[in-house]
Amino acid sequence: MTGIVLDGIGKTFDGTRIFDDLSLSIRSGELIVFVGPSGCGKSTLLRLIAGLETATEGRIEIDGRDVTQSEPHDRGLSMVFQSYALYPHMTVQQNIAFALHTERLPRDEISARVAEAARILKIEPYLDRKPKALSGGQRQRVAIGRAIVREPKAFLFDEPLSNLDAALRADTRVEIAELHKRLGATMLYVTHDQVEAMTLADRIVVLKAGRIMQIGTPHDLYTAPANTFVAQFIGSPRMNLLPCEQMDSTRIRLPGGSIEIPSLPCRPAQIGIRPEDLNLVAPTEGRLRGQVVLTEYLGADRCVHIDLGEVRVTLRDAGSSPKIARDGEEVGLAFDPRRAHYFDAAGDAINVISVEAA
Ligand SMILES: Nc1ncnc2c1ncn2[C@@H]1O[C@H](COP(=O)(O)OP(=O)(O)O)[C@@H](O)[C@H]1O
Ligand SMILES: [Mg+2]
Repeated sequence: MTGIVLDGIGKTFDGTRIFDDLSLSIRSGELIVFVGPSGCGKSTLLRLIAGLETATEGRIEIDGRDVTQSEPHDRGLSMVFQSYALYPHMTVQQNIAFALHTERLPRDEISARVAEAARILKIEPYLDRKPKALSGGQRQRVAIGRAIVREPKAFLFDEPLSNLDAALRADTRVEIAELHKRLGATMLYVTHDQVEAMTLADRIVVLKAGRIMQIGTPHDLYTAPANTFVAQFIGSPRMNLLPCEQMDSTRIRLPGGSIEIPSLPCRPAQIGIRPEDLNLVAPTEGRLRGQVVLTEYLGADRCVHIDLGEVRVTLRDAGSSPKIARDGEEVGLAFDPRRAHYFDAAGDAINVISVEAA
């Protein structure tokens, strides 16, 4: 089993700094997802771990061994790319077996490994086809098969589902999750898609401009985001953020109303409320008051966009909700301030002082 340690990693490209002092410990058998907007350094980080780029500063350890200066093939990792990178003139069987021939493994060992990978990935019927005769999803499975047969210490995935359509992406995501459970292998997975991160990860690393914004389980990040960036990156529709102003020790003013707040160690500058934590009530009953702009009906859910004057918020409730929200209608919004998130002027989370713990 394989743990990976990044210690004080720095990377510059032509004088432009991408990472500075990035440290992280990945546990053996863990599926860790790096998520962040395009250009934040996800691929570069994966390529540094794979040995396809050299770190400007810092150390990389795989299985307790310093591999910072090692060649990619000495690191024992397999990488799967968005582009599949299959050899077009080779059959599926030859594509999957290629690296094993290069390693000069015995023929029956190669056949056994290819057969096992094909069985796991359900691509046995296509072994004699060329890549061009496969769908995108099948091609990506061949690329994963090529990684599996090498029996790597860890798998590195760089946006492997981005070229697939939505339905196939959802199916293949489940297959990758099952593969992780079945192989128990360490997997590092890069995506810009927070849904992939939430559904696949044991732990998520949220990156912004080369910096780690938070590391935690999907549940941690959703329920206790460390800052407004994570708060709005994880979850869809994204968390509502409202500016707030402290009136006295227990009350804050918000666009559309004022509320009693729980005990906080410092003054909040912004309050965050998840769309599903807002409830539609009569205009006189809510904590906030606003006007319906638009309702999006999604079937199981609906999203109601409400104008509070200075800002707009999104509320999510059941598509079957009997409370009709007509465009232009005055409505009240109820929510539990203990379920809200509070942030300081820098956007860092302020923890609510728990009454039970006090
Ligand atoms: N080979 C390179 N030379 C110069 N700059 C690069 C190179 N590779 C990546 N970059 C820059 O590094 C930053 C991070 O890129 P990348 O790791 O590809 O981001 P992501 O995968 O998160 O979209 C970007 O600003 C990109 O332009
Ligand atoms: Mg990338």
